[in-house]
Amino acid sequence: MTDRFSLHGKRAIVTGASRGIGRAIALGFADAGADVALVSRKLEGLQAVAKEIEDRTPQRSLPIAAHMGRPADVDRMVEEVVSQWGAIDILVNNAGTNPVMGPLMDMDPAAWDKIMDVNLKGPYLASVRVARAMVERGEGGKIINISSGASLDPAPMLGAYSISKAALNHLTRVLAKECGHAKICVNAIAPGLIETAFAAALIQNPAIHQGVVRQTPLGRHGQPDEIVGAALFLASSASDFITGQVVVVDGGVHM
Ligand SMILES: NC(=O)c1ccc[n+]([C@@H]2O[C@H](COP(=O)([O-])OP(=O)(O)OC[C@H]3O[C@@H](n4cnc5c(N)ncnc54)[C@H](OP(=O)(O)O)[C@@H]3O)[C@@H](O)[C@H]2O)c1
Repeated sequence: MTDRFSLHGKRAIVTGASRGIGRAIALGFADAGADVALVSRKLEGLQAVAKEIEDRTPQRSLPIAAHMGRPADVDRMVEEVVSQWGAIDILVNNAGTNPVMGPLMDMDPAAWDKIMDVNLKGPYLASVRVARAMVERGEGGKIINISSGASLDPAPMLGAYSISKAALNHLTRVLAKECGHAKICVNAIAPGLIETAFAAALIQNPAIHQGVVRQTPLGRHGQPDEIVGAALFLASSASDFITGQVVVVDGGVHM
């Protein structure tokens, strides 16, 4: 049964792989036997993760600098992996952004565009490019979108972000319906508060942090490594009959 969690021989793309949750997923996938294309805007951080993969596994890694809010970069990312490795078995849309906190009424519409471009349009473009290649190849595949607990409740002060992630959940379900015939499983993971650079402002604010911890049955925030098990499950054949789901990994905040 444990073989069903193996990613041996699989080729994965993980966006936002230079740090935080994306780095943890990339390392976890390499440990499970996958070759991993590592994507983010800055090559330097990706090269450090590639070195970690090289030091601990025999797997290949492929650092690619690409901005998920730029359609031409998304195309180039997919083309590069297909041309280097022949095919893509797993796509993890993990890169995300939230440049502002505050009420929607005060938000600059440019910030709305940036959030939607990176959190929603990038994953949409990457997913359809990768899904087309998977359909053509005829061997199925796995697409995983990293959503957020904020997709499940309207989050005041994080309004555009929570809207982008709610839409990402629906993108997950629509693609799951459209791609199921080709054995492509499309699922999402909704993490709670996880200790990364992205969440530093929330974790370092005692009032916000204590508020989250109080609502969390497990009584703490999470670590990036704690997202890896769900990602590995959804990327592997252990989850072959699961699609269109949002798996919540948040210490029990949402039940
Ligand atoms: N941490 C949390 O509490 C939490 C909770 C729920 C959901 N999430 C979601 O989890 C995902 C990962 O977040 P994290 O906490 O791990 O953040 P993080 O530690 O700040 O890492 C973000 C990663 O995304 C890359 N990135 C940022 N903007 C990008 C862009 N436009 N194009 C390509 N890559 C980009 C960053 O590298 P570069 O700077 O090199 O581009 C970095 O590798 C996000 O989708 C976030 O919404 C996080």
